[in-house]
Amino acid sequence: MDDHVVGLESVSRHYGDAIAVADVSLGVERGELICLLGPSGCGKTTTLRMVAGFVEPTSGAVQINGQDMTGQPPYRRDTGMVFQSYALFPHMTVAENIAFGLENLNWTRADRDQRVSEMLKLVELPHLAARLPSQLSGGQQQRVALARALAMRPAVLLLDEPFSNLDAQLRVRMREELREVIRSVDVTTLFVTHDQEEALTMSDRIVVMNRGRIEQIGTPGDIYERPESAFVAQFIGWCSMLEGVVDQEGAFISKSGLRLPGKWKAGPGSAVIRPEHILLSADGAAGLSREGRVVESHYYGGATRIILDVNGEQLMMQERFPFGRHPKPGEKLNVTLKMDEIRVIGSASPCSADRQVLEGEQPRNPSKR
Ligand SMILES: Nc1ncnc2c1ncn2[C@@H]1O[C@H](COP(=O)(O)OP(=O)(O)O)[C@@H](O)[C@H]1O
Ligand SMILES: [Mg+2]
Repeated sequence: MDDHVVGLESVSRHYGDAIAVADVSLGVERGELICLLGPSGCGKTTTLRMVAGFVEPTSGAVQINGQDMTGQPPYRRDTGMVFQSYALFPHMTVAENIAFGLENLNWTRADRDQRVSEMLKLVELPHLAARLPSQLSGGQQQRVALARALAMRPAVLLLDEPFSNLDAQLRVRMREELREVIRSVDVTTLFVTHDQEEALTMSDRIVVMNRGRIEQIGTPGDIYERPESAFVAQFIGWCSMLEGVVDQEGAFISKSGLRLPGKWKAGPGSAVIRPEHILLSADGAAGLSREGRVVESHYYGGATRIILDVNGEQLMMQERFPFGRHPKPGEKLNVTLKMDEIRVIGSASPCSADRQVLEGEQPRNPSKR
C-alpha cells in the first residue's frame, strides 16, 4: 500500500469486550475524497481518529505516505482535522485560530500572516479575521475550522460529520463549498457522515460501514446501483427488498409468488427494487408489465410516493401525476418494472437492517413495515 496516501491494514479497535472497528482495510489514493458512511455507532469516528492518531488501533496498522504511524502522536501525522463540534478556541480570533498550528513552526511573522490571509481568502472570510468564534454563524465557524485544518497544508484532511450542526439548506450549500475548496487545494480527504446524500454527492469513493466492518467500497454509482448486500441496498436510497429464491431458469420468485424473469444465480436471494425501477405503463416503458393496487399514497409536492401491492409484494414507486390526479388507496395502476436495472443479491443480513431501524433511521423497505 506504499503508493497510498492513507493505508489501513486490518485495523481493529476494541473497548473491553466491545468491538468499535473490526478488520478494516482501505487504501486512499492521492487527491481522493473518500467518505466513511454508515449508521450511528458503526465505527466511523473511531476509524477517523485512528488515522489522526487520537486513538491507537488494538491491532493492525495505519500508514500515511507509506510510513507506519504506530505510536506517532497526531501532530506528527501530517493530517488536519475538522471536528464535529469544530473545537475552535473561543478566546482567540478567527485569524489566531487559523494560525494556531503554525505558531510552533519556525516561521517568520510575515510568512505566518501570509498563510493565514491565504486561508481566509480560500474560505471567503477575510473580512472576519478579527472576530471571535462566538461572533460567527455556524457556517462561518465551520469554514474557520476548515481553514485551520488546511493551514499546515496537511497530506490528509480529516472531517468528522462537519455539517451536523448546520440547518438543512446551509448544509447543502456548505457541502458544495467544501467540495470546491478541497478540489482547489487538491488535498486527499477522508470524510465521515451518516448522511447518504452527502456521501453520494461529495465522494469519489464511499466506504459503507456497518457494526465496525466495511460492507462495501465503491464509487457512488457502484454503491447505489450495484449494492452487494441487503444492508447497503437499504441504507443508501429508498428501496423495496423482496425475499425469495432464484429458480433453475434464473428467474427470481418472491415469497408471495411475484416472478421476475432474469439470469440470476440459483439459490436464495433478495431483489432490490428502487422507486425509479417502476414506471407507469402508460408512459410506454419497456420491461415487465404488472397491475398493482395502491396501498399508500403520499404527496410530496414534486412527486407522489406510492406503496403499490403487486402480486402480494409491496413496492415503493415515485411518480409525478397531473394536478389533482394522484392516485388514492385502492386504485389500480398498470406499471412496468425495468428488469434490466433490478438486482438480486445474496442472502439478506436481517440483523443489520433491524439495527438500522433501532437507531432511529427511517425504515426504507416498505415490505417490512
Ligand atoms: N472511548 C470509547 N469507549 C468505549 N466505547 C467506545 C468509545 N468510543 C467509541 N466507542 C463505541 O464504539 C462504537 C463505534 O463508535 P464510533 O466510532 O463513535 O461510531 P460512529 O462515529 O460511527 O457513530 C460505538 O458502539 C461506541 O459506543
Ligand atoms: Mg461519529
